[in-house]
Amino acid sequence: MESTSLLRFLFLILGALLLLLFSRYWVHLPYPPSDKADFLDCTRYSPWCNSKNRIKSKFHPHLTQSSSKSATTSTRDHEYDVPRHPLDPLTVQEINTARSILHAYPPFSSSPSSLAIHSLSLDEPPKPTVLNWRPGDTLPRRRAAVVARFRGDPYVLSVDLSSGTVTRQPVPASGFPTMTVDDMTSSIWAPLADSAFNRSVLARGVRLSDLACLPISLGWFGTREEGRRLIKIQCYSAEGTANFYMRPIEGLTVVLDMDTKEVVNISDVGRDIAIPKSAGTDYRYDVVAAQNGAPKIRPLNPISIEQPAGPSFVVEGGHVVKWAGWEFHLKADARAGLVVSAASAVDPETGEKRAVMYKGFTSELFVPYMDPTDAWYFKTYMDAGEYGFGLQAMPLVRLNDCPRNAYYMDGVFPAADGRPYIQSNMVCLFERYAGDIGWRHSESPITGMEIREVRPKVTLVARMAASVANYDYIVDWEFQTDGLIRVKVGLSGILMVKGTSYSHMNQVSPKQDMYGTLLSENVIGVIHDHYITFHLDMDVDGVENSFVKVDIARQDTNPGESPRTSYLKATRHVAKTEKDAQIRLKLYAPKEYHIINPSKTTKLGNPVGYKVVPAGTAASLLDPNDPPQLRGAFTNNQIWVTPYNKSEEWAGGLFVYQSKGDDTLAVWSERDRPIENKDIVVWYTMGFHHVPCQEDFPIMPTVFSSFDLKPVNFFERNPILRAPPNMEKDLPVCTAAATA
Ligand SMILES: *[C@@H]1O[C@H](CO)[C@@H](O)[C@H](O)[C@H]1NC(C)=O
Ligand SMILES: *[C@@H]1O[C@H](CO)[C@@H](O)[C@H](O)[C@H]1NC(C)=O
Ligand SMILES: *[C@@H]1O[C@H](CO)[C@@H](O)[C@H](O)[C@H]1NC(C)=O
Repeated sequence: MESTSLLRFLFLILGALLLLLFSRYWVHLPYPPSDKADFLDCTRYSPWCNSKNRIKSKFHPHLTQSSSKSATTSTRDHEYDVPRHPLDPLTVQEINTARSILHAYPPFSSSPSSLAIHSLSLDEPPKPTVLNWRPGDTLPRRRAAVVARFRGDPYVLSVDLSSGTVTRQPVPASGFPTMTVDDMTSSIWAPLADSAFNRSVLARGVRLSDLACLPISLGWFGTREEGRRLIKIQCYSAEGTANFYMRPIEGLTVVLDMDTKEVVNISDVGRDIAIPKSAGTDYRYDVVAAQNGAPKIRPLNPISIEQPAGPSFVVEGGHVVKWAGWEFHLKADARAGLVVSAASAVDPETGEKRAVMYKGFTSELFVPYMDPTDAWYFKTYMDAGEYGFGLQAMPLVRLNDCPRNAYYMDGVFPAADGRPYIQSNMVCLFERYAGDIGWRHSESPITGMEIREVRPKVTLVARMAASVANYDYIVDWEFQTDGLIRVKVGLSGILMVKGTSYSHMNQVSPKQDMYGTLLSENVIGVIHDHYITFHLDMDVDGVENSFVKVDIARQDTNPGESPRTSYLKATRHVAKTEKDAQIRLKLYAPKEYHIINPSKTTKLGNPVGYKVVPAGTAASLLDPNDPPQLRGAFTNNQIWVTPYNKSEEWAGGLFVYQSKGDDTLAVWSERDRPIENKDIVVWYTMGFHHVPCQEDFPIMPTVFSSFDLKPVNFFERNPILRAPPNMEKDLPVCTAAATA
């Protein structure tokens, strides 16, 4: 029970990792020795490939620059990074500068150590400034947007890094800032200071040294969740498994004051529920192999894609990506995870660079669990605004998270004390060839023509994966050569489960509401939803755009007009104000959703546009007045359109933690502002209902959904008409026997 044995606490994995990175940064540990060939040598990574081609260093200018420090772990030194683009994230030096300015700013100067930094990131320059900037121009003024707390008071600030001027901005009426990693790590330890908590754990037969606890945001349900920052702590037994999530100490909930660390309440309503067994819960490769013996199905041979001439993208200045006709700025963000900015596509007919999207990112997530009982009702997570979607994005695993030849990008984030640290390999960028077809046509013998024309489909993917405690979210921005952008979200990781006394369904009466599915003996997977809301500041061929609903409806023919009695007709309606653009999807009243530039047309006279194309999704069925749904009201519609407003970026509000839902997208949209021929932002929410099943135990196979941003009369004709087919001579044949 000595304190070292308590190292299994959750977020310790995270905490330890961060500590490692901190110490690396603070004490300037030497980086691993130069291993330039490691990244650049095809044979090193593909010993079974007989191609001797090398990935040319020009494809990785950023990595080449720092290749003496990049190497196997790929921990890169960011100390001397300089911003090169107006949207580049704050550098290590800039974060340090911002911290010094804040420490000298009254009232913080009276006690700098009492200042907690909840967020410190680039305060992006005004949009016109960014749009007018050209490479070679001096950078616009660099400013930091800061959310901080000092002696219990929240501050929203803009810090000018060259003049040192600090400007205060209004603070939201309700809620608290995103938790810091320190908040989470220190909270999970705090209940141990309470002897009643220790007794409750011991009474369940769990040793304190086997305890693993989670910091659970508790939402807002009334006055009890107002006035002070609270968090709920629930714990698990990590005895005999790395997957402690499957061994809940059911019903034991500690309410903690996050600032004073005072235990406000302990609720212990699950005393008669046994801790589920550890057998079969582990998911680590070695452990599963050791416990299960030889696999009983045919193993797969190694598989990979080869790029004998290296990848086709370049990353300039560490952030500007150029690939095929695409150019965009890519960066890691502590709250949003991954941000794609200034995306433009080259017109294959004219060579002109044409704007598509100014900024796209994950604005908020909403994950309500469907169990109204004491230990579960409050589980209604907002992972971006409460936990920081980027803060929870762990390093990507080479060859498994991202294929060979991927380019990795780090995040540079501030810790609670304002010091910068490196979240390494947080984002990856790679080309995907999945054996799909870009376009094709074959002629049948009846025409007498021997035509077989096929083009392979290659795409570019920017990816990150956030592990928000048990759950893992994979977010892909996939760019296609035909102008389409597919935004894809994958859900994997581990379910949040509920302990139960049931070990077989024959013990459960049909009338009993279990709130989920029996996944294993004494384990219920509780039903829940996932909503992921994207902010899409579309600038289709220019800043001023309109949102057009294209109704697809049945048109009945007049009697005698045709043997047909009905057909489909598409009718366009331009949305005038925000309320015209609050969209709920309906299978039997389908629409297309176009974002057009009303002042630009194709040569044929069609307005140039992009359309939002939803795919498999789900809508929230909760009572709109249920407190979680008030806070998650940005999911009330699948699509919203707002006029551009720099301070309306976070769909759940700037301060989401314990907020009442008074600063959400739903509230802004009720202003019903004009949106026709304006700079507009489209919001799309992707949803999942998750009724768990046994295959989700002990870890879930990934479930994906996506939506598309697809050109619609943006190009004059098929933009990949001139794409070449694959040729045998360009593709080396890899054989297992090539090298030993
Ligand atoms: C609870 O247990 C932990 C771990 O053994 C110990 O460090 C702590 O002092 C205990 N708390 C109290 C109030 O006894
Ligand atoms: C403590 O929690 C229990 C169970 O949720 C609740 O009934 C009780 O009112 C709470 N007490 C306080 C002081 O919040
Ligand atoms: C911009 O957004 C903020 C926050 O919602 C709001 O207070 C302000 O009125 C908005 N400005 C305009 C012009 O709509």
